[in-house]
Amino acid sequence: MLIIGHRGASGTAPENTLASFEKAISTGVQMVELDVHQCTTGELVVIHDDKINRTTSGKGFVANKTLAELKEADAGGGEKIPTLREVLNLIHRRTKVNIELKGAAVAASTVKLLNEYKVNYGWKTEDFCISSFDHRQLKEFRKLDKTTGIGILYDRHPDGFDRLARDLQATSVNISLHTVKQKIVDEIHAEGLEVWVYTVNSKHDFERLKKLHVDAVFTNYPDKFLSRKV
Ligand code: G3P
Ligand code: MG
Repeated sequence: MLIIGHRGASGTAPENTLASFEKAISTGVQMVELDVHQCTTGELVVIHDDKINRTTSGKGFVANKTLAELKEADAGGGEKIPTLREVLNLIHRRTKVNIELKGAAVAASTVKLLNEYKVNYGWKTEDFCISSFDHRQLKEFRKLDKTTGIGILYDRHPDGFDRLARDLQATSVNISLHTVKQKIVDEIHAEGLEVWVYTVNSKHDFERLKKLHVDAVFTNYPDKFLSRKV
């Protein structure tokens, strides 16, 4: 089963920060997940919420701030809100990256950035996977990028996933731990798609999902399920 560091190793480091991604990599994780928004000066930034209030010392909407303003906030332990570029530069192809399109209309900018990293820095299509609860943005992404893997995110039962997956040429259906059951896993697999489940932090849940033949789990504690031998 693929282990994905959710917002890095967000159980033990401030979520979606460079420290969190470095920590996740140190566990030997095969992929990290991160969330992107766009700030008013156009940079893609890595943060979960629309507002910076919960995860930083600052206040206000990401979309209304310049990058310089965002950089003033403490994202925990002296970390700053990173740009997607800073995260990709840090990762340097040591793990794959699942980019969740969170902010409004970030699909086109994301396609552009991925192309730049593929052309200039040796990243491969298979190093990336795109996901979103906002299925219109996934359609926009797919119009511009025909090859990168797409995971369709659902917060409830994935009604109509089969049709949408065919439209999007998707690779996985990403569902919640509270939704997953054998019937759903089997239906998704029958369409030739993978099942990825968020957010799995206990060994008990992990063992249950292994028995359901889930393909990947997002976890805040990749160290619980992986340990790099040094
Ligand atoms: O992609 C899995 C997970 O990140 C989706 O939910 O709210 O943690 O971004 P959220
Ligand atoms: Mg996410």
